[in-house]
Amino acid sequence: METVRVQLTERSYDIVIQKGLMDQMAKDLSSIQEGRQLVLISNDVVYGIYGEKVKDQLEAEGFDVYEYIIPDGERYKSWEMASQILTKMLEHQIGRDGAVLALGGGVIGDLAGFVASIYQRGIAFYQVPTTLLAQVDSSVGGKVAVNHALGKNMIGSFYQPKKVYIDTETLQTMPDRDWKSGLAEIIKYGIIQDEALFRYIQENIEPINNREESTFAWLIKRSCEIKAQIVAADERESGIRAILNLGHTLAHGIEAITEYEYFRHGEAVAAGIQVIAEFAAEQGLLAQKDKEEIQRLFNELNMQYRLPKMPAAMFMEMLALDKKNQLGQMVLILPEAIGCVQKTTTYNEEHMRTFLMEKGYLIDVKGDN
Ligand SMILES: NC(=O)c1ccc[n+]([C@@H]2O[C@H](COP(=O)([O-])OP(=O)(O)OC[C@H]3O[C@@H](n4cnc5c(N)ncnc54)[C@H](O)[C@@H]3O)[C@@H](O)[C@H]2O)c1
Ligand SMILES: [Zn+2]
Repeated sequence: METVRVQLTERSYDIVIQKGLMDQMAKDLSSIQEGRQLVLISNDVVYGIYGEKVKDQLEAEGFDVYEYIIPDGERYKSWEMASQILTKMLEHQIGRDGAVLALGGGVIGDLAGFVASIYQRGIAFYQVPTTLLAQVDSSVGGKVAVNHALGKNMIGSFYQPKKVYIDTETLQTMPDRDWKSGLAEIIKYGIIQDEALFRYIQENIEPINNREESTFAWLIKRSCEIKAQIVAADERESGIRAILNLGHTLAHGIEAITEYEYFRHGEAVAAGIQVIAEFAAEQGLLAQKDKEEIQRLFNELNMQYRLPKMPAAMFMEMLALDKKNQLGQMVLILPEAIGCVQKTTTYNEEHMRTFLMEKGYLIDVKGDN
């Protein structure tokens, strides 16, 4: 069993990683959670595979389990769904000593965490992330949110779980695209901060493609450590936490233009990292050789995503929105070497537009302005 501690003073918590952890989790939870009411939030796909088992074990430990199973999909990470769950929690008279347990990927974790953060001003929250992306990224750091018609993750809060239980066995049932999506965030950690992690991935292409348990246990632990350390230094993203956004400015644009239907988040991130590495190389910041290594790694993992040609005006609108969210500056995270990035505000939307036009990623559509 591996444990990663997320150090956030009185909000510190442990992430426990182990194969088969789901079978022991209820006992551990029972030893730290006093209240007996447990709100289990999941979706129909994940609950269909793991739900009964988890519920039975929780009940065997004496918990009263209230399960709220929602349909699968990003569109259900919504205010309406949060509101429905909150209503049911009130109807069931969940008390302030109750807790929310998220069983699922990032969609469930973000939604359940948001619900836990506002129900009676906040009740205990636990996570059982079941996708690679949720295990290495969304369950670490306390960002919880729902989407709004006017923007993704626009309604949310910072709310840390009490504990995160990662059962690496759940990865075996994950669809391939979601698997790769999580891998993109792991590669990101290597590029921003840990050359050794990047090299490890380079040297373990086959075990990774075969989803070998031991390889993944290490990758997940290392990823959680890196994110935990960055989050501990800057919980509310006023400084260093921004480096986690490598490739994300472009990814958010790509996702929004394709209405979140065409790409998984990590697929868009993989594409975003490759494009930004190209940009950094053109600016003379990143050595050509490093850029090629980054591209080769994505290639070997079959993660070369072809970007659709994006209408320039629409993309510029997305960049403007992103800039607004960054308090009026376009903040770019640029790779300088493998394991090292810089945060810069030197470039503006026009630089980006020119570059993307030249590379053929953006096109002027008739009637565009
Ligand atoms: N809070 C954060 O810091 C943060 C960071 C990154 C991403 N996110 C959010 O995470 C979400 C994406 O998360 P995701 O990639 O996990 O997507 P997801 O939650 O939609 O899960 C992907 C798919 O896999 C299925 N699934 C989950 N676990 C499975 C399993 N073990 N076996 C079989 N199928 C399984 C799900 O039902 C779904 O169809 C987005 O909403 C994104 O905004 C949040
Ligand atoms: Zn991401």
